[in-house]
Amino acid sequence: MADEIDEILERSPLIALVQADEVETAVQTSRALIAGGISIIEVLFRTDAALDCLRAVAQEVPEAVAGAGTVLSAGQADEALDAGARFIVSPGLDEGVVGVARSAGAPVFPGICTATELQCAYNLGLETVKFFPASIAGGVPALKALASVFRTMRFIPTGGVSPDNLADFLAIPAVVACGGSWLTPGDLIAKGNFGGITALARDALSITEKAR
Ligand code: 3PG
Repeated sequence: MADEIDEILERSPLIALVQADEVETAVQTSRALIAGGISIIEVLFRTDAALDCLRAVAQEVPEAVAGAGTVLSAGQADEALDAGARFIVSPGLDEGVVGVARSAGAPVFPGICTATELQCAYNLGLETVKFFPASIAGGVPALKALASVFRTMRFIPTGGVSPDNLADFLAIPAVVACGGSWLTPGDLIAKGNFGGITALARDALSITEKAR
């Protein structure tokens, strides 16, 4: 499964975050992203409907690689995997979450933003972590400094990534993907402007192609 995610990240190193109160919104947003060329979709566990949204995206949008984000506990990781998550993302590093994902053979990307956290991740045998919150944890210079020390680590900057800094993050060789909610703005979703989301996905992909 880790290989499968690697292959997809190679093709489109973007992870779109989807936060929805309703299943239908999550499904429509995911379809709009797919239409724009982004297939890795992280459903955020920040609403009461998150589990249902994840299950629906996993079942009804077969082109998507649906995972769970903002997973805070081992129990949530378990629920997410049961609902069809193909990867798990956490804002911080938690051994319980990592353990549950690993037992299921699912890729897990815990968040780190300091050398100490990164060293813990390294010693847990993790190879890819989320760098969070990327823009305020020092941005590109901080990530370059961390990557130069932890030479085998790969990073997914997330948190404050936008079209303005996407190319700079992607230009760092250790960056395998960037994640963010700029691809799924609440105002477009509220207006039902899913075409706007497809356009944002296309724009992001074009930045990605130029940066790589
Ligand atoms: C996350 O959960 O990874 C962050 O909320 C993403 O940050 P962003 O909203 O700035 O993209």
